[in-house]
Amino acid sequence: MDRINLILNNKVFLENYKIIEKYEIDRIFCKHNLSHFLDVARIMYIKNLEEKINFKKDIIYAIALLHDIGRSLEYTKNIKHNKASKDLALIILSECNFSESEIEIIVSSIIAHNDFDHIVINKLLREADKLSRNCFDCLSFKDCNWDEERKNKGITL
Ligand SMILES: [Fe+2]
Repeated sequence: MDRINLILNNKVFLENYKIIEKYEIDRIFCKHNLSHFLDVARIMYIKNLEEKINFKKDIIYAIALLHDIGRSLEYTKNIKHNKASKDLALIILSECNFSESEIEIIVSSIIAHNDFDHIVINKLLREADKLSRNCFDCLSFKDCNWDEERKNKGITL
């Protein structure tokens, strides 16, 4: 997990993380913080093991840590966060010893995380992203704009 800790301490990652923190300080809905990134990573990894998909752990964690980092540019420059996350991930990953082929897998998954394709790693991210939200324990449940059937009303993983 050395490369994951390089991401965690990467200057570009930290700068953008702090911007998200600042913009979401009073947010009553789900935040895009380290707790969310790690929930997504761990859920992806559990499903990866349960479903015997066999993606490498640090590829999964890199995707999860970076999939929402571009929220910073959505807040400051109105750039869609999946595109912004992809652009920031390209910079961060190249500074954290990921190979060209690994970067390709990671950024493809990040850019597709709001779409509905059937690529296994992309689907893994989308499912974990949704499952990571504890709607059943959320004070803003009624005001949230997620469709009723999308909300997690109990523990499934
Ligand atoms: Fe997310």
